[in-house]
Order: sequence, then C-alpha cells, then structure tokens
Amino acid sequence: MLRFLTAGESHGQALIGQIESFPAGLKISIDKINRQLTRRQGGFGRGGRMKIEHDRARILSGLRQGITLGSPIAIIIENRDWSNWKKLMDPIRPVSSRLNARQKRLANDTTRPRPGHADLSGAVKYDTRDLRNVLERASARETAARVACGAIAGQLLEYFDIRMVSHVLSIGRARMKRKKIAFDEIVSKADRSEVRCVDPAVSAEMKAEIKAARKNGDTLGGVFEVRISNLPIGLGSMAQWFTRLDGALAAAMMSIQSVKGVEIGDGFASAAKKGSAVHDALYYKPSGSVRSRGFYRRTNRAGGIEGGMTNGSELIIRAACKPIATLMKPLETVDVINKSAARAITERSDVCVVPAAAVVGEAMMAMVMASAFTDKFGNDSLADIEAAFEAYLKREF
Ligand SMILES: Cc1cc2nc3c(=O)[nH]c(=O)nc-3n(C[C@H](O)[C@H](O)[C@H](O)COP(=O)(O)O)c2cc1C
Repeated sequence: MLRFLTAGESHGQALIGQIESFPAGLKISIDKINRQLTRRQGGFGRGGRMKIEHDRARILSGLRQGITLGSPIAIIIENRDWSNWKKLMDPIRPVSSRLNARQKRLANDTTRPRPGHADLSGAVKYDTRDLRNVLERASARETAARVACGAIAGQLLEYFDIRMVSHVLSIGRARMKRKKIAFDEIVSKADRSEVRCVDPAVSAEMKAEIKAARKNGDTLGGVFEVRISNLPIGLGSMAQWFTRLDGALAAAMMSIQSVKGVEIGDGFASAAKKGSAVHDALYYKPSGSVRSRGFYRRTNRAGGIEGGMTNGSELIIRAACKPIATLMKPLETVDVINKSAARAITERSDVCVVPAAAVVGEAMMAMVMASAFTDKFGNDSLADIEAAFEAYLKREF
C-alpha cells in the first residue's frame, strides 16, 4: 500500500518525508515539488516566519537519475532558521546556558497552554511541563513535508492525466456566493489571488476580514475545496469500512491541523433535502468518457463518490478550518507549573491559514488518490500500472 510518514519538529534541523510502495519508473520533477512548497508558504494572513523559510526539497533516496526506483523515497526540507534555534532545539545537547535574550524568552515562555492548541493535552499525555516538547510537533510546519510527499503522488496522478485543484470558498464572514465554479476557472484564477479565491471582489472582502482580525489580535478560519477530475470509475471499494474511499479522504482531510469539518459533494446541505433532489440521475452515451465507461450525470451532488468508490464524476471535497489558536490577544489559561491563572503563550503566528491549508488539502488528496489508484492498478512499476489501467478501460462492460 502506498503511504507516507513525516518526521521533524517545527524549529528542528529539518523536516523529513518518507513515501513507501511508490512505483518504479516515474520521472520526478524537483521543480514541481518546490513549486508546491512555495504555494503552501503563500497566502495573505501568514506570519513572519514565511519570510524566513523559503522551503526547498532535497531527495535523499528512492530515485536514481531522476526516476523512482520502487524503494522508499526520502525527502528532506532543511530549516533555514536552524542556526537561531540550535541552542534550544539540539536533539542531543542540553539547552546551552549562553542564550541571547530572545532565546531565553523562548526557553522560559512555554508553560501557559493555548486554548484550542495541542499544548495542554500533549503536555499531560507525554508528561512534560515544557510545552515546546509538544507544540514543536503539533505545529503545522509539519505540513511542508506532507506537501512535498503529496507533490510526488501528484506527479503519478498527473502521468495518468488526473488533475487536481483547490480554492478558498470563505474566510470569516466573506464567502463565495456563486455555486457553479468550473474546474478550469479555478485552475486559471485561484493562484492569482492572495487568498486563493477565484472572485476578485470576494478576495478583497476576505483580505479586509484578515486585516481587521490582525488589528484586533485575533484569527480567522474558513472553508476550502479540493477538486479532482478525470478519475476512472471504481477506485476505492464498498467491501470494508476501511476500503471506502470517502472514509480515507475524510480522514486525510481531517488530519490537517485546524480542519474541523469535511464534506463530500453537497454533504451537509443534502441532509435537509428529499432524495429526488439529492441523487444524480444516470445517463449513457456510447461515445462518452472512457473513464466512466460512457455513463454520466448532469448534476454532481454526490461529489464523485458513491458507495465508497469513485463514480467517474469530478471529486469535490470541502474542509472547514477553525480560526487558529495562537492569539496575539491571548485567552485565559492556567500555568502548568504553578496552576495559577495566566494568559496563553503568543508564539510568532499566522492570522489566517485557509489558503495554505487548501494547498495541504491538495497534497493529502493526492496521497489518498495515488494510494487508491495503485491499490487498483498495482504499485511495482509504471509499465505494469499502465497495462492494468488500459486493460481496465478496455474491458467490455
Ligand atoms: C498551514 C497551516 C498553518 C498553521 N499555522 C498556525 C499558526 O501559525 N498558529 C497556530 O496557532 N495554529 C496554526 N495552525 C493550526 C494548528 O496547527 C492547529 O490548530 C493545532 O495543531 C491544533 O490542532 P487542531 O486545530 O486540528 O485541533 C496552522 C494550520 C495549518 C494547516
């Protein structure tokens, strides 16, 4: 099964991604990986750290002369700010006594958990009163490694002409009211907007919301959408709870830091409607798309999945991000050492991460879809997959 792991602390030396069971024979573009890393770092509402990072990926293993080998792929993204964190974050040596004023503050300022973050639960669970031991890994800096891995999975999907996009539907109270947004419109417009929204007027409203939140020391959430087109019918399976593709996609989306809700297709809205207004009637055209075997729908309220399997329509999945937990006007909390009332810590932080979370969403969806694709068509070599895929599409039905 194609899967990936990440390692690395937010201010550690580097982040690491490792992909297993990736097929041999695919030419990988490092530029494409780096482009995705740059997209993750963008977006109006990000914090000062984005200016330092400028992430770049380096492949350590699993490729030879640019081509995947079928062996585990390891990727490293070095922390460009490591020299400033080495004394605090060295994996072996104890914290040095020769800290500058900023380092001293960072070393001692980690006992007041942020409501809404992993700080308190992690501290109790892992038996530490130094919240940095938890927040370093809970931080969504980890998503850089996800994006690098997702960019490799995305190149496999791209080889089979499966396309993926994302865009932002709402930030705070500013939201897209237009329901029909074509895939190609997202391709051409989303990345031109600083908030990754296709409508310039709504983008301006979103930026105004973010500016106001920043001024008030507050943060904002929102909703983003990922779409995948040109999928073959029949990825995933209804056979077991864990083989259902909708379950895997929702779990992957939910695992993104700050995501608190996921829906596929009309999701929550369909719960209030009658079946006749929810389900997508079926039609057939012998000359229709070979990937859906000629079957098609005039609507796509199901969002491309029925019975835990792709149905040949575009996959539409949305995620709701809560406003992030690090507030510059911090909430009340309790100091974990002396148990007295306090104000939560204020690490350098973003105001709104929804545009970046959408890029992470693409990476997670790419991973899950590449896994489903190779589950069905094999994961040893590209040639084997191509042969199996072609045979599937040609099989008489
Ligand atoms: C791309 C991205 C960047 C994030 N940046 C921050 C941040 O700067 N400050 C913060 O408090 N939370 C940030 N978050 C959210 C936290 O990581 C998240 O809220 C925290 O780990 C707790 O997990 P939960 O919200 O899923 O419960 C970010 C999330 C994403 C997806």
